[in-house]
Amino acid sequence: MCGVSESAVRKYIRTNGIDRNYDNKVVKKRTILALRKENPTISLAEMSRRLGYSTNTIKKYLSLDENQSDIDTSKVSTFDITKPSVVIKTVSENQDEILHNILRLYVKKSTFDCDFTYSVGNFYISLNKPLFKFDINPQLEDVRPLDEAHDISPNSLHSVVVDLPFIVNVNNNGKFKSKIAKRFDYFKSEKELYEANNRMIELAYSKLKIGGFLIMKTMDVCGPSKQLWINNYVQNKAAECGFILEDIFILVSQTKYLFTSGLRQRHARKYHSYFFVFRKGKKHK
Ligand SMILES: C[S@@+](CC[C@H](N)C(=O)[O-])C[C@H]1O[C@@H](n2cnc3c(N)ncnc32)[C@H](O)[C@@H]1O
Repeated sequence: MCGVSESAVRKYIRTNGIDRNYDNKVVKKRTILALRKENPTISLAEMSRRLGYSTNTIKKYLSLDENQSDIDTSKVSTFDITKPSVVIKTVSENQDEILHNILRLYVKKSTFDCDFTYSVGNFYISLNKPLFKFDINPQLEDVRPLDEAHDISPNSLHSVVVDLPFIVNVNNNGKFKSKIAKRFDYFKSEKELYEANNRMIELAYSKLKIGGFLIMKTMDVCGPSKQLWINNYVQNKAAECGFILEDIFILVSQTKYLFTSGLRQRHARKYHSYFFVFRKGKKHK
């Protein structure tokens, strides 16, 4: 009926924590109530005959308060109006889901105002494109060079998205195998990586209204000689600038991003990245 596979339906039910037992009960109750509404004087025995439920079951459902939730698990119901139909969770395997959830919970608009690292716009496969699209290296006709973002009026935007590269390739010897490095470029030094993050956070701060949101995707990486905890750096820098951390969403990856072939494993391989939701506070610190 939905034009998707059975496993897609199962995955949807699982990832959204939908309580199918509860939903079945709601369907049963609605059927019973609808029959009684159509035939207000109908007997329990006649209802039982027509619907195939026992008279005790019918009595039980008729006595339940219609709007009262009796789900006692953390799961949710499509029909349960006392809880949102889909719980917003901190983790997801799906980037689109995280972006939709940030819009629903914080931005409260159909899309973001501005993206400073638009690239080819993969963030907007299932979203409306933002009004302002920038990139340091524009790859599409309607994407403006990042320098032009300085022309946006200060304190005017409601939301800004930033998704910088996170790979540092010191040697730049052409043997780097990551597809991500080839496609979105990389930083040549840690200094360059941190400076780019500083610049983006400061630019976002100056262009956002007070109460506006900076959505920043980032990832910790195992650098050539040590681990780079970019996520901590970004959080500290944003706080220093005057942002308040509202939420952290974790994108769990199913695929292996970076190659370390032939090397002994020294640290846990990173299978996740972060989406930080920062709100611009009242005063620049
Ligand atoms: C991971 S991609 C962004 C992908 C994008 N979110 C999408 O959905 O397609 C990183 C982008 O940051 C840009 N970038 C690279 N170095 C930068 C720098 N130093 N300052 C600002 N942007 C940079 C790149 O041009 C690239 O388009």
